[in-house]
Amino acid sequence: MIDFKELISKKISEVVKLDWKEIKQNIEIPPNTNMGDYAFPCFNLAKVLRKSPQAIAQQIKENIQLDENIKKIDVVGGYLNFYLNTSILAKEVLKAISTEGENYGSSNSGNGKTILVEYSSPNIAKPFHIGHLRTTIIGASLYKIYKFLGYNTVGINHLGDYGTQFGKLIEGYKLWATEYNIDENPIEELMKIYIRINELCKTDEKVLEACRQNFKLLEEDDEYCVELWKKFREVSLKEFNRIYDLLGVKFDSIKGEASYSNSWGEVVEILDKAGVLKESEGAKIVDLEEQGKGICMITKSNGSTIYATRDLAAVRYRAKTYNFDKCLYVVAYEQALHFKQVFEVSKYLDIPEKCKNGLEHVQYGMVRLSSGKMSTREGNVIKVEDLLNEAISRVLEIINSKEPNMKNKEEEAKKIGIGAVIFNNLSTTIIKDQIFDWTQVLNFNGETGPYIQYIYVRIKSVLEKAGYFPKYEEIDVSNLMDKESLIIINKLYQFKEILEQVTMKNEPSILARYLIDLSQSYSNFYNENKIIDTDKSIQNSRVYLSYCVGNVLKTGANLLGIDMPNRM
Ligand code: ARG
Repeated sequence: MIDFKELISKKISEVVKLDWKEIKQNIEIPPNTNMGDYAFPCFNLAKVLRKSPQAIAQQIKENIQLDENIKKIDVVGGYLNFYLNTSILAKEVLKAISTEGENYGSSNSGNGKTILVEYSSPNIAKPFHIGHLRTTIIGASLYKIYKFLGYNTVGINHLGDYGTQFGKLIEGYKLWATEYNIDENPIEELMKIYIRINELCKTDEKVLEACRQNFKLLEEDDEYCVELWKKFREVSLKEFNRIYDLLGVKFDSIKGEASYSNSWGEVVEILDKAGVLKESEGAKIVDLEEQGKGICMITKSNGSTIYATRDLAAVRYRAKTYNFDKCLYVVAYEQALHFKQVFEVSKYLDIPEKCKNGLEHVQYGMVRLSSGKMSTREGNVIKVEDLLNEAISRVLEIINSKEPNMKNKEEEAKKIGIGAVIFNNLSTTIIKDQIFDWTQVLNFNGETGPYIQYIYVRIKSVLEKAGYFPKYEEIDVSNLMDKESLIIINKLYQFKEILEQVTMKNEPSILARYLIDLSQSYSNFYNENKIIDTDKSIQNSRVYLSYCVGNVLKTGANLLGIDMPNRM
């Protein structure tokens, strides 16, 4: 496909004698097509060339060598607006989609680069909460998009399977295991034990000491304690896997914090050798006050490691194993300081510079349920699995009331219900806090997952109704020069660039917004144009354009983690 942005940049560069790549970075897509397909703002040049932006724009316009690809150029304010030759544009887009199909939008721009995406990372024997749902959805989507753009991508689940709480849990288990139905409902029951033992520890010093002892034994590989810990891990993973299955999420590596127990000693040594470790009341710390990043504790006064030490060991392991260019941590913004510290201290590790520079915290906001009760402390938590199943059953209810004889309705309900939850998580800038509201999530006409799926299904039925699916060679693009068709063609052309933007900002919501835009544009097109027409040339062109939209909606939705239903 012609890269029009590149083409325009090169033409401008011939006039102003600047690197075309730099120019390309400044080229914008105007907010609406009345202002052209691309705009070049001349404000930065004005400073360098000491002329007014308008004068520069005018000068470029007068000297630029146009070709058939560009229909016209306008100077508006300090901008140069470029209008593409729409029939070349249409041919390019339709042809590319006809040859690339579901791969349309993919590229090899990431070839040769390795990117790790760490996401989900719940804690064993603790509830998988709605925040974990967010990281799982955001991370899985970033993972897919990077892969689609040709990166060597590794998805990592950094399981929280280590910490003093396991000493307590083991003690509670020893005391009361028989009273709880751990096999049936492991996490909930283990939580109850954990809450109960915590209460007891507050009043009984001896029990508290026993808990500490258990943790020590666990660290020393005591058979019984390790056995129990393994059981906790196993039953928890079984529960987490049910959620991952519902969401269709996979990992290349599930590696817990505990797996770094052999190497965190080395981290302490390296930091010590680097001369950055300080003693503070028995604990070992790295002082980052000067960088405005507080104090990073490395070992506690009793010598045991903390969360940050285990993350440092993981950075080292990942650098050595994958030699990554980037390592993304999809974790809530509440942990921002933690990651600032880990990244800062990583500078002292024995790993390649590029790995040190490639560490990045992808932060997302909190989710609150509109009903409001989500307190972990009382053990009164919304179970994510229940939430996902409720989404499915709510959709099934709607189907049963509107179209009870739908084929494979359970399967379709799953795609729609899960799709709705996923889209809801990705529809706004991820750093923003969100309120989860059922009516909003499942609204078929709002800016939701079901809306995109609905447009997709509608397109499918248009294609069926047409009865004949034309080949690309049969399409006369002059039938697609109306406003609504051109808006769609423009958007389809931008798909690849949208995906690049997602990776530049690690913001899947850019793709989610795009899919809403494309769906709405199709809806306008559909309302304005008769698709099944007596003029077969017109019908074929519109059917083909519909197919192209359906194709990109499907690819885009899949990249967010959403499956398309066959009916709705
Ligand atoms: N297990 C942690 C939690 O649930 C999240 C882990 C995030 N990743 C990391 N490398 N620290 O809060």
